[in-house]
Amino acid sequence: MGKDVIVACDFSSKEEVFAFLDKFTDVKPFVKIGMELYYAEGPEIVKEIKKRGHKIFLDLKLHDIPNTVMKSMRVLSSLDVDMTNLHAAGTAAMMEAAVKGLTKPDGTRPILIAVTQLTSTSEERMKEELLINAPIDEVVMHYALNAKNAGLDGVVCSPLEAAKVHDKCGADFITVTPGVRFADGEIGDQVRVMTPAQAKEIGSDYIVVGRPVTQAADPVAAYKRCVAEFVG
Ligand code: C5P
Repeated sequence: MGKDVIVACDFSSKEEVFAFLDKFTDVKPFVKIGMELYYAEGPEIVKEIKKRGHKIFLDLKLHDIPNTVMKSMRVLSSLDVDMTNLHAAGTAAMMEAAVKGLTKPDGTRPILIAVTQLTSTSEERMKEELLINAPIDEVVMHYALNAKNAGLDGVVCSPLEAAKVHDKCGADFITVTPGVRFADGEIGDQVRVMTPAQAKEIGSDYIVVGRPVTQAADPVAAYKRCVAEFVG
């Protein structure tokens, strides 16, 4: 499987995202489009970025009844994205429906990964508000296994969980890990971070890097540094 650096394009308009992508002439990073940009600009933004030669991770985290998710995934698949995701909390039936909806008539489909528990959810909130009493690590691993059994390709997780996910779900089950920072860079609001080189060492398959690239004085150089450290 190809290891790659995914750049989180957390911008709120197409002008901003194109001004950023225009800086990349000799390389075309794999980009993550999240809810903010997608809801602001609609499916056209996906098509336009794709047309510029970028691979796309469409990070919309679907979570609804199986039939709705199946039909929505069919629409996303027709946008020709390379990777998309959903919440594992939607159950195996929802995840299986998502795989079905995403699969094209020729049998191919984008990579589909699951969000287990959001890193913004603490164990305390999970117990008190969601009435989930198992330790959070156990919940994350159990949801990852549910995703694998439903036919998904991997999970979004902390780089600190990637090795454990591979142990539990197999080396070819993809781990996509945000929370990446350069050793000499700003951490910002992330709490548990790893450098691209450390993420490589512990076996992440894809790292998602936002501000260390988008806010860098020289974004292209920062991106190339990530690739050099992570892919080698
Ligand atoms: O700017 P930064 O590198 O922190 O961006 C990380 C990206 O990964 C953002 O788009 C953020 O929403 C996303 N993300 C994350 N932590 C998660 C899941 C997604 O930082 N657990």
